[in-house]
Amino acid sequence: MKWSVYPPSDDTYFLLDNLPRNLGDSVAEVGCGSGVVSLQVAKKTKRVLATDINFHAVKRLWEKAKMRKIDTKIDVICCDLLSCLRNLRSFSSIIFNPPYLPCEWIEDPSVCGGENGVEIVIKFIDLVNRLKYPGLKIFIVLSNRANIKKVNEALENNRIKFRVIATKSLGFFEELRLYLLTL
Ligand SMILES: C[S@@+](CC[C@H](N)C(=O)[O-])C[C@H]1O[C@@H](n2cnc3c(N)ncnc32)[C@H](O)[C@@H]1O
Repeated sequence: MKWSVYPPSDDTYFLLDNLPRNLGDSVAEVGCGSGVVSLQVAKKTKRVLATDINFHAVKRLWEKAKMRKIDTKIDVICCDLLSCLRNLRSFSSIIFNPPYLPCEWIEDPSVCGGENGVEIVIKFIDLVNRLKYPGLKIFIVLSNRANIKKVNEALENNRIKFRVIATKSLGFFEELRLYLLTL
């Protein structure tokens, strides 16, 4: 398994450029990677919780938060998605730029989303659907390199309302999409 920390990339900046200004008072970022999204979001909200399965990523984000003296606003936890939480009631928004390439997650969890590129996203959708509460907003980045049809089906099966709020072409073949899920 590779444990390199995902560096800020096209999908990171796509997410940052298209998130609404107001995400509410309390935001969770799943899969924080380098931490650039959580650090940016922390400027606009009262509290951020960042998780990542990669211990090096959360350790690095925690060090950056302390260095910038915003460790009073950020919590970081090394955990699988949001499985370390009992419920999501204290959050107004959740953000996830997941690994979405069609390759085995165990090979490289920073980019591989599973056989169809969507297995991690679908696991996340099932989890938030169990922990959800009305009014929670969820932002997920997806790429057409993954099997997006399977994600749409999972959302429909869970009766989760969703819409695409932004798209960006990366060259001729790849398109990024930002999904907003309302529970
Ligand atoms: C595409 S990177 C995004 C990183 C960062 N949020 C960004 O936008 O630059 C996906 C991140 O999800 C993390 N990740 C993968 N599987 C995870 C899981 N099951 N639970 C938590 N984090 C996970 C990876 O370690 C990686 O940091």
